[in-house]
Amino acid sequence: MARHFLLNTGNRMPSVGLGTWQADPGVVGAAVYAAVKAGYRHIDCASEYGNEKEIGLALKTLFEEGIVKREDLFITSKLWNDRHAPEDVPEALNESLNDLQLDYLDLYLAYSPLGSPGTTWMNGNVLKEPVIISIAEKLGKTTGQVALLWNIQMGHSVLPKSTNQERIKKNLDVYDWAIQDDVLAKFTEIQQVTLAIL
Ligand SMILES: NC(=O)c1ccc[n+]([C@@H]2O[C@H](COP(=O)([O-])OP(=O)(O)OC[C@H]3O[C@@H](n4cnc5c(N)ncnc54)[C@H](OP(=O)(O)O)[C@@H]3O)[C@@H](O)[C@H]2O)c1
Repeated sequence: MARHFLLNTGNRMPSVGLGTWQADPGVVGAAVYAAVKAGYRHIDCASEYGNEKEIGLALKTLFEEGIVKREDLFITSKLWNDRHAPEDVPEALNESLNDLQLDYLDLYLAYSPLGSPGTTWMNGNVLKEPVIISIAEKLGKTTGQVALLWNIQMGHSVLPKSTNQERIKKNLDVYDWAIQDDVLAKFTEIQQVTLAIL
């Protein structure tokens, strides 16, 4: 299973990253720490999530403890809608870098001025789809793992947000098994759902 996707910059983005939206202050640092210790190498952040300072402290601890080096990680942050004027971008970027205690980001995304759907995917109805449930039962995996691997096999990176240590680990356990092509075809039975792009 693809552990990385190659970007047109030549950089390699790990196919699974930890989402941090709605990961509350007070728990997000522990989630980032646990995720990196469990093997995550990609963290999806944004100043707008209001938790980059705490993520920065967790990253500092991980570096100081020698668990990973900065270059082992792929860190994303995002430029919020109200900072798109060219003169505002360096300041917004520097705020994120300062909060995250980093010298550079691997990816800096600009939010669409149209906004994002703001729906959480794993909490939606996808995990209740009969086809996902039956495949999960057949493979002995959770519905969440099946939904994540389905997306990776379709060539998408996934950013499951979790502050639950067990789910953090399970969401990364998507590399040593595969959904067979004939089974994958069954996913077309699932009605089109609104997917958040950022
Ligand atoms: N949705 C958007 O509009 C949006 C916009 C910008 C960026 N993002 C990025 O994408 C990340 C993911 O966002 P998302 O909206 O797609 O959320 P998601 O990761 O699909 O859903 C998060 C919710 O699902 C739960 N969860 C996590 N793993 C699970 C599993 N294996 N089984 C069942 N429930 C599980 C989490 O609860 P616990 O924490 O209790 O495990 C949390 O309540 C964000 O954190 C952010 O980094 C999303």
